[in-house]
Order: sequence, then structure tokens, then C-alpha cells
Amino acid sequence: MSELLNVSHISAAYGGIRALRDVSLTIGEGEIVSVLGANGAGKSTLLKCLSREMRITEGEIRFAGRPLAAKPYAVVESGMVIVPEGRQIFTKLTVRENLMIGCCQRRDKEGIAKDEERVYTLFPRLLERRDQYGGLLSGGEQQMLAIARGLMARPKLMMLDEPSLGLAPIIVSQILDILKDINSGGTTILLVEQNARKALSISDRVYLMNVGSIIREGPAEAFRNDDSLVNAYLGG
Ligand SMILES: Nc1ncnc2c1ncn2[C@@H]1O[C@H](COP(=O)(O)OP(=O)(O)OP(=O)(O)O)[C@@H](O)[C@H]1O
Ligand SMILES: [Mg+2]
Repeated sequence: MSELLNVSHISAAYGGIRALRDVSLTIGEGEIVSVLGANGAGKSTLLKCLSREMRITEGEIRFAGRPLAAKPYAVVESGMVIVPEGRQIFTKLTVRENLMIGCCQRRDKEGIAKDEERVYTLFPRLLERRDQYGGLLSGGEQQMLAIARGLMARPKLMMLDEPSLGLAPIIVSQILDILKDINSGGTTILLVEQNARKALSISDRVYLMNVGSIIREGPAEAFRNDDSLVNAYLGG
């Protein structure tokens, strides 16, 4: 498997407070990798560094065989998108307008039309609500829209920050199933979650974070079978 993302010894801070300390991880093409950890572990900070919303103070990041682009828009152009914590959809824009924001850097009209069709196949609910304001969608539908918007950039790597947050278990399961489908279609996935058991159920490999550092890593299988680990660090 060829390596898609390589994060090597990065650190980051908010003012004087270090939030990431010597973090290294790799993601192979086609994998689903989860980063798990309790509140404040540094998971969102890691994603902010990967999307270049936040500056790293040490280390380096390589994507698809080159140094990661320095600016957020260029990161998206290079094939990496983030589906942010709390969805952050535009409430006063329609579902379709929200989707079009996801591909505003693309010029290939035909490809865009194809991808729009594809997201409506993955999320039939969004097709039904295509002309409705984003703010009128339910929490689960808003999460689906955030994922669909990310797909409109046609990413090689999709990074999701707590997609299960605040959603009913049945909706979470639906969303995870769709992530598996997206992955089968060739998109590599980096999933950040507090909901460890759910994330483990679809992941190939896992990194466990605690106060800004990675403290364990391994195949998801090993974590699934280690209740004490899940209970100690993660909660159900
Ligand atoms: N904007 C900020 N300014 C200052 N400190 C911050 C800021 N955002 C996060 N932090 C701190 O950085 C650390 C890591 O936070 P981060 O949001 O990355 O954690 P997390 O693992 O995503 O947690 P959660 O599961 O609650 O989302 C925490 O100690 C947090 O208080
Ligand atoms: Mg977070």
C-alpha cells in the first residue's frame, strides 16, 4: 500500500500552551484510520494543522509524496478536505448551494455534475431537500450535507471531526455505513472520534491520543478486543 499522508514529529500551540507534542502518523492510500481520544486530547488541533488552519511549530507534513501545501485553499486543491466539527453548513443557503461551495475551486463542469449526482445517490435525503435552506435540516441531515459538500471537492483524503456528535445511534450507524461506501469508492478516510466503539467498527488502524501526544497505535482489531483500553481512555 502506498503512503498518502505522512505526519512527522509535529507540534503546535495556542499562545504559550502546547496542544500537540511530537505527533507522528501515516495513512496509506485506501485506509480508514481513526484518531481517538478524550476531550482535549488534541484531535481537532491535529486536523486544524493538517488543513493548514493552524501553524505547526515543529515537524513536517507530506501528502501524496510531496510537502503539504501551505495554504488551506491549496490543501483542498491538492486533494485533502476536512468535514469540520459541528458541520458548519451555511444555514441561509440551500442544500444545493452548500454543495456548490464544496467544489468552488473546480472548473470541470461535467465532473461536478457527475459528483453532484453521486452525492444524491449516497444521500437521497439531500436530493429531496435540494432547494431547502441548510438551516432547516435535522442534525443528521446537516452532517450528511457536510460530508456531501466535502465529497464535491473530489478528495483523495477526507478528514472528519466527530461526525457522530449529538446524533442518535441509528443515524450514526447510517453515516458510518456511508463512510465505508465512500471509502470503497477509493477515498481514504481519517476519522476523529470520541465515540470509540463506533469508529473502531469501521476502521483499519487506530491512533490513540492523550494530552497532545499519540500514546498507542495499532490495527483496529487489537483495540476492539481490548475493553480495558476502550474504557480507560475512550468511553463507549
Ligand atoms: N482556540 C483555542 N485557544 C486555546 N486553547 C485551545 C483552543 N482550542 C483548543 N485549545 C486547547 O487545546 C487542547 C486540545 O484541544 P482540541 O480541541 O484539539 O481537543 P479535542 O481532542 O478535539 O477535544 P474534543 O474531543 O473535546 O473535541 C485543549 O487543552 C484545549 O483546551
Ligand atoms: Mg475536537
